[in-house]
Amino acid sequence: MNRAKVVFLGAPGTGKGTQAKKLSAKFGLPHVSTGDILRDAVKKGTEQGLKAKAVMDRGDLVPDEVILGIVENRLVKPDCAKGFLLDGFPRTLVQAEAFDKWDSVNCAIQIDVPDDVLVKRLVLRRTCPLCAAMYHLEYQPPRSQGVCDKCGTALVQREDDREDVVKSRFQVYMEKTEPLIGYYRQKDVLHNVNGNRDVETVFSEIVQIVEAVGEMNDEG
Ligand code: AP5
Repeated sequence: MNRAKVVFLGAPGTGKGTQAKKLSAKFGLPHVSTGDILRDAVKKGTEQGLKAKAVMDRGDLVPDEVILGIVENRLVKPDCAKGFLLDGFPRTLVQAEAFDKWDSVNCAIQIDVPDDVLVKRLVLRRTCPLCAAMYHLEYQPPRSQGVCDKCGTALVQREDDREDVVKSRFQVYMEKTEPLIGYYRQKDVLHNVNGNRDVETVFSEIVQIVEAVGEMNDEG
């Protein structure tokens, strides 16, 4: 597939990370998650990570210039030459416009899920601090309680998955990120997907969308 440059849009918990990981495995496109990159920096205790931690823990956005630096560094790597899957970026109009100056997105996938479903998804999410595998206590529990299936590490709840922080994240999403839906609609690359269905059903719809975009690019 030629140059599928995909951005996932959607409120916290809509399944952007879940779907981007599956798509990455299917098409061999790199999954670029700014949230994962920041959490990795926090884990390693880098200066950038230490600064980002407090912001992330309260559900705010990390400053645009920090994020733009992270994404620019990542996208120059050779694995991104064929295309990429952006998860969690861009998140503000400033980020989207800055990104468009050095590259552009040809497929924006907006995943919609009702807010009450999202709260349940987030407060019951557990993640592996070592390999970043993700679980849900009800929909996708680990085989052994509290332990990662893949690497045996004790699972944790993300600081920003506490219910009070989840509500702030929704607020920040509405104010700062939702306007991007109109931004990509105007560019005629927006696709809406109902994310309130099981993971595989959502995935097969997203695969069809990305395949159609890839075919268009292959022809063009
Ligand atoms: P980030 O990590 O990007 O968090 P987010 O956007 O809030 O998204 P989530 O990871 O919470 O949810 P998701 O949509 O990926 O859903 P998931 O697949 O995990 O960002 C974290 C923080 O970093 C931000 O708050 C900010 O501070 C900072 N940051 C990152 N990027 C930034 C940027 N560009 N600018 C500024 N700051 C930035 O699924 C959620 C749960 O639901 C899981 O348990 C999963 O198993 C379950 N699930 C998924 N799909 C389904 C389904 N279909 N049915 C049932 N359960 C499902």
